[in-house]
Amino acid sequence: MEILLDAENQIETWQEVTLVYNAALKQINTRLEILNDEFQHVHQYNPIEHIKSRIKTSESIVKKLKRHGYESTIENMVKYVNDIAGVRIICSFTSDIYRIAEMIRLQSDIHVIAVKDYIRVPKPSGYKSYHMLVTVPVFLSDRTVDVKVEIQIRTVAMDFWASLEHKINYKFEGNAPAHVKEELVECSRMVSDLDSRMQHLNEEIKALSAEKGE
Ligand code: GTP
Ligand code: MG
Repeated sequence: MEILLDAENQIETWQEVTLVYNAALKQINTRLEILNDEFQHVHQYNPIEHIKSRIKTSESIVKKLKRHGYESTIENMVKYVNDIAGVRIICSFTSDIYRIAEMIRLQSDIHVIAVKDYIRVPKPSGYKSYHMLVTVPVFLSDRTVDVKVEIQIRTVAMDFWASLEHKINYKFEGNAPAHVKEELVECSRMVSDLDSRMQHLNEEIKALSAEKGE
């Protein structure tokens, strides 16, 4: 039987952090590509528009540890910073988000540690996205390490909103004027409305094509 080990006690240097978390991103990216290809084969469409992934810079890892009152050690990074490896999956329709989340959940060696559904319950800012914190095994020459990856799944419209909101917050260092914040919340409602109308349209078209036997 294969032994899976806690990443905490298995990663000792920054080079190892980079290596192991990059490997985890490759694992997740390949699995998502396979799911997307298979989906295309079975249902004749791609649920994934595109995927972005990134490793958090050492500077922002250190900043985050400091913010939470932890010393900057490799052990603390691996233990407390859940988004060292991040993947963002952009879909066309909200229904695709839940479909993809389910397909990830069904992979037997991926463990879902936590889920935050900011689509059902958006943040007060108006932020919407489906977040999953998972671990994926990385097979090294002498050991297997379960590595944490933060997965964010959102529609194109939610992504558009989040990138503008991020830019605004960066500009105002988190203290945007009240009317700007209110406008963002209003735009977020419009995003929800747009997403649901586009999904209904898509379903209507699918039903029509099915009737015609296409
Ligand atoms: P951190 O925010 O990373 O400290 O972790 P957390 O435990 O608060 O997790 P959460 O799920 O709230 O947010 C994780 C990530 O989601 C962030 O790093 C952002 O990428 C994204 N995010 C969360 N809230 C917002 C928001 O209000 N606006 C935007 N643009 N992105 C957000
Ligand atoms: Mg946060």
